[in-house]
Amino acid sequence: MTLTLDDWSPRSWASKPIKQEVVYDDPEGVQSALEKLQKLPPLVTTQEIANLKKSLRNVALGKAFVLQGGDCAELFDYCNQDMIEAKVKLLLQMSLVLIWGANMPVVRIARIAGQFAKPRSSPMEVINGIEMPSFRGDNINGFDATPDSRRPDPSRLVSAYFHSAATLNYLRASLSSGLADLHSPLDWGLGHVITPSIKEKYERIVTRVKDALRFMQTVGIDTDRGVETVDVYTSHEGLLLEYETSLTRLLRDPTVPGETLTPTHPLKLSHTTTTTTSSPPKSYYATSSHFLWIGDRTRQLTGAHVEFFRGITNPIGIKIGPSMTPEDLITLLDTVNPTHEIGKVTLISRYGASKISAHLPAHIAAVQSTRHIPVWQCDPMHGNTQTTPTGVKTRHFADILSELKQALEIHRAAGSFLGGMHLELTGEAVTECVGGAGGLTEEGLGERYTTFCDPRLNEKQALELAFLVAGFYREMEGEEEVNSI
Ligand code: PEP
Ligand code: CO
Repeated sequence: MTLTLDDWSPRSWASKPIKQEVVYDDPEGVQSALEKLQKLPPLVTTQEIANLKKSLRNVALGKAFVLQGGDCAELFDYCNQDMIEAKVKLLLQMSLVLIWGANMPVVRIARIAGQFAKPRSSPMEVINGIEMPSFRGDNINGFDATPDSRRPDPSRLVSAYFHSAATLNYLRASLSSGLADLHSPLDWGLGHVITPSIKEKYERIVTRVKDALRFMQTVGIDTDRGVETVDVYTSHEGLLLEYETSLTRLLRDPTVPGETLTPTHPLKLSHTTTTTTSSPPKSYYATSSHFLWIGDRTRQLTGAHVEFFRGITNPIGIKIGPSMTPEDLITLLDTVNPTHEIGKVTLISRYGASKISAHLPAHIAAVQSTRHIPVWQCDPMHGNTQTTPTGVKTRHFADILSELKQALEIHRAAGSFLGGMHLELTGEAVTECVGGAGGLTEEGLGERYTTFCDPRLNEKQALELAFLVAGFYREMEGEEEVNSI
């Protein structure tokens, strides 16, 4: 059966089997929350979405690199000045290192301003002998271990919108006020615990960037526009379909200078309010964030999540793990991107350091047998989660680095381009992943273990990883070693 957008509506997913469903005991509360959301303005604009799409097209074509990162589970409490700034500054620092390393533009996407809902392996858990629903994310229920706090509360849907809006507001305001000013990347802060060798390397890159800017100014190239600030896009897992549907709107397609961007779907016209040439085409946009992805647990071909995702115009991600077959990968790409839009889909591979070599080559070959040109991104976090003998969930820096390095090598050997990395990180000095130059051990994990879901790289580990990945790119280009800068 051929799927067409004629069969699609923002709610057509509701007739499909759904995984990770949230069951509320207050249907009226859900209804009124969704009605409220439907009236609220979009959190992002179609122009911004189109700009990101254009950038991701460049990544798919091997002309840019995408860095995506942030918390595994964002909490409403993370909506504060310090935490937002720390995360954004870290992404900016890492991207500067990657620009230098990969010698190409870096597209920055934060897991922020909406990364609340979490897929769980079990809907219920037992804590202190009491059975209660598992914590599903701040937009669903509370973390406190009591049956009352764990009850799914529909008012959290509206709260999620306002926390996303406040986060995004501060993000936009600080970027436009010079937080990302390339003239002062040392002000982005290097954290209080950074290793001296990394600090020194970073400062050397900054000196080079400043020299380049000074040179441009001296020869009269206008550096005031473009380097004063940069774009940071937002993203989250599109898990909670009721929420996403309420913020999905039929909007006029923006025009991007020199591009015909969005009207590529064969059935585009069925979404247009009128078919006269004078009225610009419209499409459905998820307006909760610029970029949404489908998790590894909700990507069933005939399931509700894939149904929702195939109708939205945003660039989308799909997590792919060891259970994905090459045949299903092709069907999935055909379903969500029937017109083979370049860079529309980001394939986020997450197999684990010991499994990547068994799965990635066949996935690349499957894609290469089609006309699809996706962005290939490596998530070296989710296949490398381990539990210590004392029951603490962690990840080893060496496994993370190994999966990234293997991904780069496998893509290169297959004539494919690894266009980016997807990390769980935080701007705080947490102790959740072991290893790295700081030498964090399993014994040290208890010091500042604050994640509410998966273990994240701390600022120091994240920046170190950026340097190592930058070094891999340099080595592959046969250029100077990262250590020699
Ligand atoms: C995540 O990105 O936090 C996540 C749950 O990933 P995955 O779907 O790959 O398990
Ligand atoms: Co996670």
